[in-house]
Amino acid sequence: MTIDLAVIGGSGLYQFPGLENTSRHSVDTPYGPASGDVVVGEFAGKRVAFLARHGESHTVPPHRVNYRANLWALHSLGARKVIGVNAVGGIRADMGPRVIVVPDQIIDYTHGRYTSFCDVEGAEVRHIDFSEPYTESLRRELIEASAKADVAVLDGGCYGATQGPRLETRAEIARMKRDGCDLVGMTGMPEAVLARELDVAYACLALVANFAAGCGDEDEISIEEIFAHLAAATAEVPRILAQLLKS
Ligand code: HPA
Repeated sequence: MTIDLAVIGGSGLYQFPGLENTSRHSVDTPYGPASGDVVVGEFAGKRVAFLARHGESHTVPPHRVNYRANLWALHSLGARKVIGVNAVGGIRADMGPRVIVVPDQIIDYTHGRYTSFCDVEGAEVRHIDFSEPYTESLRRELIEASAKADVAVLDGGCYGATQGPRLETRAEIARMKRDGCDLVGMTGMPEAVLARELDVAYACLALVANFAAGCGDEDEISIEEIFAHLAAATAEVPRILAQLLKS
């Protein structure tokens, strides 16, 4: 099967709006079950695969997502280009709620996750280059498509991946800021590195849901607000991807 684009939906994106003539694929992987069925259908005249990272009813927390199975399932169906849609908190002042960012760097603060397909008995050990964690050509496609769709996105930024599922302390975010992180999210890693191990092009559309701890005016982050901002940013995603598929 040829898949023109695969999309991994994050919090707030559990179905792909506008995906038509769909079929569902429950893929057996050597790493156990994926987060759910991969839904393959037509969108903007192309074949698109969609997988809800947290499951279609949001039952899989970030630290329990089977990232290897998800990437493996998409790859085995023929996906060679994957866009991860990720909810994030904004650290940089211009990355407030509802801003959309296409990051270009990552710092990984997660722990205890399977971060490599080499992590099984007898697998060949590979030390892949990860200097540029996202596929630059796919980042450019996303940025150009957003401009054509008239959706403002910021080009570049460092995504700090935390363990979750709790939000961070102010001190943790202050440290991440000193480290050079612009955004914080719980699911950007190991998704990006696993895509690279499979030679799958991968880029991230980071949707800012809130200012990270201590970065906004509020003393506390409200989950209701997070989901309201996320819904607004998520509504722009199909327009960006439709343009990307047209070019
Ligand atoms: N921290 C981590 N992940 C997130 C946040 C946050 O503040 N907001 C949305 N995802």
